[in-house]
Amino acid sequence: MMPNPAEKYRPFPQVRLNGRRWPTRTIEKAPIWMSTDLRDGNQSLIEPMSIAAKLEFFEMLVKIGFKEIEVGFPSASQTDFDFVRKLIDEKRIPDDVTIEVLVQSRRELIERTFEAVEGASKVIVHLYNAIAPSFRKIVFNQSKDEVKALAVEGTRLIKECAAARPQTHWIYQYSPETFSMTELPFAREVCDAVAQMWRPTPDHKMIVNLPATVEAAMPNVFADQVEWMDRNMGFRDSIVLSVHPHNDRGTAVAAAEMAVLAGADRIEGCLFGNGERTGNVDLVTLAMNLYTQGIDPGLDFSDIDAVRRVVERCNQIPVHPRHPYAGDLVFTAFSGSHQDAIRKGLAQRVPGTMWEVPYLPIDPADLGRSYDAVIRVNSQSGKGGSTFLLERGLGFTPPRRVQIEFSHAVQQITDASGAEIGGDAICELFKREYFDAGGPVSRVDVSTLSVFGKRVTVAPPASTMSGDAYAQTVAAALGVDANVNWFETAVTASGDTAAFVGCRVGEGQTRFGVAVHANPALAVADAVVSAVNRSGRVAENVRQDEAVEA
Ligand code: KIV
Ligand code: ZN
Repeated sequence: MMPNPAEKYRPFPQVRLNGRRWPTRTIEKAPIWMSTDLRDGNQSLIEPMSIAAKLEFFEMLVKIGFKEIEVGFPSASQTDFDFVRKLIDEKRIPDDVTIEVLVQSRRELIERTFEAVEGASKVIVHLYNAIAPSFRKIVFNQSKDEVKALAVEGTRLIKECAAARPQTHWIYQYSPETFSMTELPFAREVCDAVAQMWRPTPDHKMIVNLPATVEAAMPNVFADQVEWMDRNMGFRDSIVLSVHPHNDRGTAVAAAEMAVLAGADRIEGCLFGNGERTGNVDLVTLAMNLYTQGIDPGLDFSDIDAVRRVVERCNQIPVHPRHPYAGDLVFTAFSGSHQDAIRKGLAQRVPGTMWEVPYLPIDPADLGRSYDAVIRVNSQSGKGGSTFLLERGLGFTPPRRVQIEFSHAVQQITDASGAEIGGDAICELFKREYFDAGGPVSRVDVSTLSVFGKRVTVAPPASTMSGDAYAQTVAAALGVDANVNWFETAVTASGDTAAFVGCRVGEGQTRFGVAVHANPALAVADAVVSAVNRSGRVAENVRQDEAVEA
C-alpha cells in the first residue's frame, strides 16, 4: 500500500489572480520557439551527444526552421565548448539563426562562456540560478537577498563582458530556475532587479524565461503564475516573456499552451519531449497542435519520420509508438468502427477542402506519412479494415454483402492466431476464397466450361445482353440447378471488370462469387464459376440431374 498522501504531500497553492484573462483568450499565432535539445535535452542523456551528433542535430533544427537554438553549456563541458567553437569557426550558423549558451553566475564561468562564443554575430547569453524556497533552504542555504544578489551580479558580469565585445549582437536571457515553485512576488523581485541591471529597451529586449523546472501543479496554475508575471513584472514592454515547462505531471504541453494564453511570447523545449526526468515540453506536439488549428507553426515537420530518425539516433532514445503525430501507431486504427469511419472519411474526401476525416485529427500526408498504416487488421477489426486493405491491394471495393462474408473469414484467422493480418495476406486470402475457390466447375476458354470434366459450351454474350442476363445464362448452362439471384460489377483501378454474383445451387444457401477480368463477359462467367464452386453443393445436384455426367 502506498502511504497516505494527505500525510505526505502538500497540495500546490492556488494563485490569487483577480479577473484572470487567459481562459478567455485563443492562440492566434505561433510563439517564438527555442530548441534546447542540444543543452537541456543533451544534459539528460545517458550518453551525451558527440560533436558529430550535435552537428547533425543542429543542422536538422535549422532545416526545420528553428531561429533560436541553445547549443550547449560551454563552461561546463569541453564537448560543448568545442562544438560551439566549431559552429562559429566553420561559419555553420545561418544569418537568421541565433545560438544560445547557458551559464551560471560565476565570473570564471562567464568568461569561459564568452571565449566559447567569441566571434559569433548574434548570441543569447542565458544566466540561471535557483530561487525557490526549497533550494534556498536545502541546497544553497542562502537568503532571498543572497539569491537575488547572485542573479544581479551574474547579469552585471555578463553586461561587462558583452560591452567589451561590441562586434557581437548580444541578447541577454535570465531564468529564475524553479520559478513555478517560487513565491510570485519574490520571482518578480529577482527578475525586476536583473532587468534593472541589464536595462533592456523595447528595441533591445531581454528574455525572461520562466521555468517549471519541476512541474508541480496543474497547467491552469502555471498559466496563472505566468499571467501574474505578465501583469506585474517591470520593463514588460522591453521583455520577451518565455516559458520552459518540464513534464513531471505529464501536462507540459497543456501548461505551455495555457502559458501562451497567459502572455508568454516564447517557448523553450525539446523535440519529442526529451529532457531531464519526464522531459522538457515537446515542441513537435506543440507545433503540430497549432497546425491542426489552422495556425502556421513556422516549423516544418513535413518529413516527420526523417526528423524522428535523427533524434532517435542522436539521443539514443526511441520515440514512443503512441507519441502524438510521430509514433508508429498514431495513424493506425485497429477497431472495426474506427476503421469503417476512416475508410468512409478518406473515400469521401474532396482534395482542396477542409480536412474532415473521423478519428484522424491530421492528414498523415502532411507529415510525410502514407495511408498504408492507417488501417491495420486484427481480431478487433471489422469489415471496414479488410475492405480498406483490399481496395488498396486489389484496386476495387467489394460490395457490402461480400465485405460482410469475407470479414468472417478474416475474423477466423485473426481469432485463431491472435495476431495482426497484413494487407498482402488479406488480399491473398480474398483471392483464395473467391478467385481460386476450386471445385468441379472451371472455365476452359472463352466459350467452354467444364463441369466434372464434361465440356459445356456457352456462347459469348451479344452486345445487347446485360451482365446479369449473361450470368443467368452461364449458370443455366452448367446444368447444376444454379440460379443467380444477385449481380453487381465494378471497374477496378486498372480498368478491368470486377464481377460479383450471388448464386443458389439447388436448395442451398446463396453464396457469392467474385472474379476480375479485362474482358467483362469472362469476369461474369468466372464469378458464376466461383459462386457455384463455393456453394459446395454441385456434386449433390449433379447426381440428381442426370443430364450432366461425372
Ligand atoms: O529547467 C530549468 O529550470 C532549466 C533552466 C536552466 C532554464 O533548464
Ligand atoms: Zn530545464
